Amino acid sequence: MDAIVNSYCLQHLYYNGLGVPFADYIDAPSTFTFQHKPGIQHIPTWRSDLVPDGSVDLVMCVQVLPELNSRLVRHMLGEFHRVLKPGGALYIRDHAYTWKPTDTFNVEQHLGTNGFDLEFRAHIINDVELHGIPRIWRKALPEVIASRTRTWKQKLDQAVVDVDTLTGGGFKRTLKKLKGKA
Ligand SMILES: C[S@@+](CC[C@H](N)C(=O)[O-])C[C@H]1O[C@@H](n2cnc3c(N)ncnc32)[C@H](O)[C@@H]1O
Repeated sequence: MDAIVNSYCLQHLYYNGLGVPFADYIDAPSTFTFQHKPGIQHIPTWRSDLVPDGSVDLVMCVQVLPELNSRLVRHMLGEFHRVLKPGGALYIRDHAYTWKPTDTFNVEQHLGTNGFDLEFRAHIINDVELHGIPRIWRKALPEVIASRTRTWKQKLDQAVVDVDTLTGGGFKRTLKKLKGKA
């Protein structure tokens, strides 16, 4: 996807010469449909609606999000969430907060509160070790998020262990004795 005329046309030429199946929205805007088959499908950013819900394994944004204004970033992050499969990945590599030509919109904060979960952020010095900091976000699976909270039973079991440790094993011995008498 792209929205800048020169970039889009250059991409068109490049993809066309790769020798792999290639379809471009601009060749036939009124009949273009997304195909679930190998190859490249090229669409302008404003037609992201053509990508079906939950159909994408990986979205990649390399050196692009900081260039977009906050309204567009917000919209596109919502689109990425819509098109990704549950658990699908969003790979971002850019200068994060150190280079931000547009406004102060905080992509990381927005992702963290809008259905994405940070899986990986490289521990590197930007522009020394790599041009941009790679991050991987995942479209959060509710069961994964839920699994991070202890159930009441787990909390109760832990409380028993804690009390038993504090009493030098006395708590469990007493429980055993009481059970024996019952
Ligand atoms: C720095 S280039 C990075 C290109 C490529 N991802 C790479 O790593 O080589 C930024 C890209 O963002 C595109 N871009 C800039 N503003 C955009 C916008 N408003 N909507 C969509 N794409 C945009 C540009 O056309 C350009 O292709």
